Amino acid sequence: MRSYLADPLNKLATGSGDWPLLIIGPVGTGKTYFAVQVLDTFGGVYHTASDFCQKLIVADERGIPWPGNHITNRQTEEAGVWRSEHLWQQIKYHPLVVIDELGVRGETTHTQRERIQTVLDYREGRPLILISNLDVKTLGAVYDDRIMSRITRGTVITIKDEDRRQK
Ligand SMILES: Nc1ncnc2c1ncn2[C@@H]1O[C@H](COP(=O)(O)OP(=O)(O)OP(=O)(O)O)[C@@H](O)[C@H]1O
Ligand SMILES: [Mg+2]
Repeated sequence: MRSYLADPLNKLATGSGDWPLLIIGPVGTGKTYFAVQVLDTFGGVYHTASDFCQKLIVADERGIPWPGNHITNRQTEEAGVWRSEHLWQQIKYHPLVVIDELGVRGETTHTQRERIQTVLDYREGRPLILISNLDVKTLGAVYDDRIMSRITRGTVITIKDEDRRQK
């Protein structure tokens, strides 16, 4: 792990750092790789911001086939599919949630913003990793002030390394 990540991560792990953890940095600098490593170690749920919003739509339209043992909910098992409330339960109850690719296409709809705000509210004070290619200022043009104050209230790490895909 890169050395400048160690101090803020130790603080978060020992309870003296503030959530959420916002990781920002240019494309290909290993942000998703890092998140996957953390998820492998601690477990949790991973979505990209746009996938999560899309999954909520599909879940309500036709249901997402039940993927396994993540939620032991009688209603879910009987139905064999997940509805949006099950996706929200994951967000509420998993030990760690990662939302990747925030603001990736430079614009969001009102509904997408509302959903991200709900994620932020459900995870307030609890492990949540947010990842974006955009710097805080640019991200602020994509999301509104209320969301930005929630996104940046915890620990912010800026990765400055080079694009690993070019090596
Ligand atoms: N610490 C690492 N050790 C080995 N390979 C790595 C490491 N970090 C990243 N990589 C590799 O570098 C490439 C880019 O990493 P990754 O996809 O995590 O970048 P990213 O910052 O999420 O990029 P993007 O902003 O485009 O989503 C991947 O192929 C990944 O496997
Ligand atoms: Mg990535």
